[in-house]
Amino acid sequence: LPSGFVSVSRLSLVVVQSAQMQPDTHVYMFVCCVQVQDYLEPFRLSLEKLQEVSARATPDGTGSNWRRHIWGHENFLALDLGGTNFRVLHVRVVEEEQKMLKMDSQICAIPQEMMLGTGEQLFDHIAACLGDFLVSQDLKGHTLPLGFTFSFPCEQKEIDKSILIRWTKGFKCSGVEGEDVVKLLKEAIQRRGDYDIGSVAMVNDTVGTMMSCGYRDQSCEIGMIIGTGTNACYMEEMKNVKRVEGEAGRMCINTEWGGFGDDGSLRDILTEFDVVVDETSINPGVHTFEKMISGMYLGEIVRLVLVRLAKEKLLFKGQTSKDLLTPNTFQTKFISEIEDGLENAQNILTKLGLKWDDVDSRVVRLVCDTISSRSARLCAAALATLANRIRVNRGLDHLKTTVGVDGTVYRKHPNFSKELQATVRLLAPKCDITFLVSEDGSGKGAAMVTAVAQQHVCCCSSLFLLAAHKTTLNLHLTTCCVSMLH
Ligand code: BGC
Repeated sequence: LPSGFVSVSRLSLVVVQSAQMQPDTHVYMFVCCVQVQDYLEPFRLSLEKLQEVSARATPDGTGSNWRRHIWGHENFLALDLGGTNFRVLHVRVVEEEQKMLKMDSQICAIPQEMMLGTGEQLFDHIAACLGDFLVSQDLKGHTLPLGFTFSFPCEQKEIDKSILIRWTKGFKCSGVEGEDVVKLLKEAIQRRGDYDIGSVAMVNDTVGTMMSCGYRDQSCEIGMIIGTGTNACYMEEMKNVKRVEGEAGRMCINTEWGGFGDDGSLRDILTEFDVVVDETSINPGVHTFEKMISGMYLGEIVRLVLVRLAKEKLLFKGQTSKDLLTPNTFQTKFISEIEDGLENAQNILTKLGLKWDDVDSRVVRLVCDTISSRSARLCAAALATLANRIRVNRGLDHLKTTVGVDGTVYRKHPNFSKELQATVRLLAPKCDITFLVSEDGSGKGAAMVTAVAQQHVCCCSSLFLLAAHKTTLNLHLTTCCVSMLH
């Protein structure tokens, strides 16, 4: 083998895997892979580059004691809207001593047309699903408090007042941006008139995840989602939160890190394929970081690279297929499956109507590996920023903390979590981070926030205000939509 070949680590992996091949196949692979390499190189971010990205992602400063607050109430409802499905939950406190929460839930699909329809249709559908669920749980006639996980960038004015800044993740319902989504939900329920809900607490899914993981591990102070979209929240010192008066305690900040790079600060690492993904999305120009990382976009980036490699005759003998040429046909879950085994890669390529040979399937796996690896490393860069910030804020030489995580990309991809964790260790060497995968999703966390809000709603109209009024509560739960960039 030519010596240059083995010096490129990822390509050498391909060589090792194909050691039983004929020598001429090796030569063909060498030539082909070196050219493929030209296309994949821009996705490979060095540690130095990630350190730079991490340094650019500086939050602008913008509780664990909740356990004891939640036991006064027994039944809560939760709604979880953030992707193509939404979940309705009934959360119950069943064993006070053991602090057991029990949940029943139902998933309702949101048809594609509805994601692009009117806000009224969307909220009527949510209200209808909640109504059906109440019937199935024999809860009709009970007015229960409701935790609403609404996982889109919002300006949270109060615990039950949250203005949608913009839709993400393929949603574009008219008449919702700029409006209070809690009000829209309540109006939809009133239009039906057959049931009512109690007080509402709205949270982002990152906050719900942090809360539900915090139930198992009280040192959980970061919540991170890497699924259809991506985002993280963390506990910030009140003295650094400029928007709210008061210095004592901590407040949960929703970073909305998906919007990192919208000011052009990631331009140097965007590839030509990222640019196409952005331009053909329904929200061009925004959520740049999310489009390089999350499940909604990874499959499409891979598809665009494969089309280009085929057109350059570096794959499939220069042939494509109707499916490969159709946007969004290469699902993000294919990436996980392909990286899991070569046989999966071959089955998927066949399903996509492609004529492949052994080298093709290995190159496709290399493409998937490169793109998912970039995603994991970029997430690590942003997470390292948060962990380092918490450490420095507290004047600690060493921080031990826990990140509550959820999302299909993190959960389902075979190497993603390992790569992310290894990179965070390099970028935040003074932080000892435990990763806790959320068991129950963010809905349970939303119900917990509702429970805490319920306890204190009588003395102050919202937890947001509690924070502002410097009460002695340890928990100041609210989410300020603070871009990591400003
Ligand atoms: C939204 C965030 C959300 C994330 C994960 C992003 O598109 O802007 O609010 O937390 O997706 O669901």
